[in-house]
Amino acid sequence: MIIICPCIELHTPYDLLLDADPEKRNVDNYLLKGMLFGAYEDSKLVGVYLIIEKENHVFELVNLSVKDTHQKKGIGTTLISHAENQAKLLGGKYMEIGTAFPLLSYYKNRGYIHYKTIKNFFVDNYSHPVIDNGILLKDMEVLRKKI
Ligand SMILES: CC(C)(COP(=O)(O)OP(=O)(O)OC[C@H]1O[C@@H](n2cnc3c(N)ncnc32)[C@H](O)[C@@H]1OP(=O)(O)O)[C@@H](O)C(=O)NCCC(=O)NCCS
Repeated sequence: MIIICPCIELHTPYDLLLDADPEKRNVDNYLLKGMLFGAYEDSKLVGVYLIIEKENHVFELVNLSVKDTHQKKGIGTTLISHAENQAKLLGGKYMEIGTAFPLLSYYKNRGYIHYKTIKNFFVDNYSHPVIDNGILLKDMEVLRKKI
């Protein structure tokens, strides 16, 4: 059984967090501003996400990550729903996710629609080229969902 709760790890789970965003200074910035939740199976951390309040009523889901041995079992989808519920409890009306081409359909299948494109985001904000599933990332697609 998967239990989702505020992340109670003694050490920051950088392995999972950096899988979703390879730039450590971005992750550290999100950790300062956001709330970190963990998915636990038999008391072991198997997934994480962070939510950040961007502006009034708008939250952002960042660093969604599931351990590769536990992917494709619905944990990511459960974490997204949990994040949306948490944001709603905090007064959120919209959830945003910044992503790129390889995951567009994953989020679209979960109710997210295109909101804006940030040109060259992955070129301008990362110290190394970001490659996901063999694709060199350039623009960030910001998706939004009414929650
Ligand atoms: C993106 C990510 C979080 C998805 O997590 P996940 O736990 O594998 O997601 P889910 O299991 O909910 O869904 C993945 C696919 O598995 C399928 N799936 C879900 N439950 C399933 C089950 N019980 N059996 C078989 N397949 C299943 C889903 O249909 C889904 O495919 P779809 O998009 O075509 O619907 C994960 O791949 C990951 O951590 N990637 C690395 C980090 C990353 O890129 N993060 C995102 C940053 S924007």
